[in-house]
Amino acid sequence: MFFSNKNILIGVTGGIAAYKSAEIIRLFKKEGADVRVVMTESAKEFITPLTLQAVSGNAIHDSLLDVKAEAAMGHIELAKWADIILISPCTAETIAKITHGRADDLIGAILLASKADKYIAPAMNMNMWSDSSTQENYNTLLKRDIAFIGPASGEQACGDVGPGRMEEPSNIIEFIRKSFKTGPLSGKKITITAGPTREQIDPVRFISNNSSGKMGYAMADAAIEVGAIVNLISGPVSIKPNKHVNLINVNSAEEMLNKVIDSMSDSDIFIGCAAVSDFKPSDYSDIKIKKEDMDDIDIHLEKNEDILTYVASEFTTSYVVGFAAETSDVKSNAKRKLKSKDLDMIISNDVSDKSIGFDVDDNEVNVITNKETIFLKKDKKIRIAREILKIISLNIQV
Ligand code: C5P
Repeated sequence: MFFSNKNILIGVTGGIAAYKSAEIIRLFKKEGADVRVVMTESAKEFITPLTLQAVSGNAIHDSLLDVKAEAAMGHIELAKWADIILISPCTAETIAKITHGRADDLIGAILLASKADKYIAPAMNMNMWSDSSTQENYNTLLKRDIAFIGPASGEQACGDVGPGRMEEPSNIIEFIRKSFKTGPLSGKKITITAGPTREQIDPVRFISNNSSGKMGYAMADAAIEVGAIVNLISGPVSIKPNKHVNLINVNSAEEMLNKVIDSMSDSDIFIGCAAVSDFKPSDYSDIKIKKEDMDDIDIHLEKNEDILTYVASEFTTSYVVGFAAETSDVKSNAKRKLKSKDLDMIISNDVSDKSIGFDVDDNEVNVITNKETIFLKKDKKIRIAREILKIISLNIQV
């Protein structure tokens, strides 16, 4: 799953090799990528938009000036969306257009607007390829950090033999795989818990806590950025998750535990960010308790299973990270928990300081392992999350 979480935009132009773009899309998708396709009008003479829509799983983009298409996902949005842009096959005409920075069609406009890594897989008759204008265009584009894949040499559709064939799909994927830098946790599976849990007393009342889920969701975002495949098991929060995250919604600690166990069967890393309720009511009333029926009420609470401790003891080959929100002796309490829960890492923060911790955008933490303590000074939760993921990546490599 080398391309998991990666957005790949494939531009298909009008050459006989356009039929091979279906295979290129299939190979990228097999490696976990999200693929969108832009077609020129002449490409549609060689392969139908319906075929490429079916293999990519997304509607085809083909027009710069269509109001409806631009409203759905405009050329600037597509340009920003893409991590990689591959034009395959790329005709002599499109190479010439790109060289001159033309933006009179969708592919040209997206290429100008995008900061993505750009690749061209040329396909044309050998004489068109070796013609001095094409060669000049090719050399100009090489200087602009556009990588060329191929063309390959061999028998051509027109019967000529020489350079101009589009590289085989598997070679194109391999070339991009070698040159594109993904994150240090590329393809690793991470289970993250986030948010509070709700322990129901009756159908309308519950015990819960103030967790907003912001830190857990930031950890999920940061994990996606470094290439991980993320299962985010979340209690009720009001945050929109990253679209690459596999979100699993739960309510109670017991539900969270069950989903964590399922997810950990193939996870490499567990990050327990959730503020799991330590206790739950021993009895659940499946009808609403009526205040008219009683003057007071005793709710007996019993302990919930500690999910983090459970994961650390049952999934011993995984790297297990906990969070410790403390109000006093922050570091020493966290170190105690690192040992007692048998964790690989614990992140401690002081929730008595209202500017960090629960329901705010900033955090300040200590990242504690058995060998070191790293202080991360107050910053946005996403930046703190990125630093924590960096430290985790370094630790799991040793
Ligand atoms: O012991 P304490 O609750 O302070 O530990 C906090 C850490 O333990 C957090 O990582 C939290 O997600 C986890 N935890 C858990 N299950 C519980 C209670 C806490 O996974 N029942």
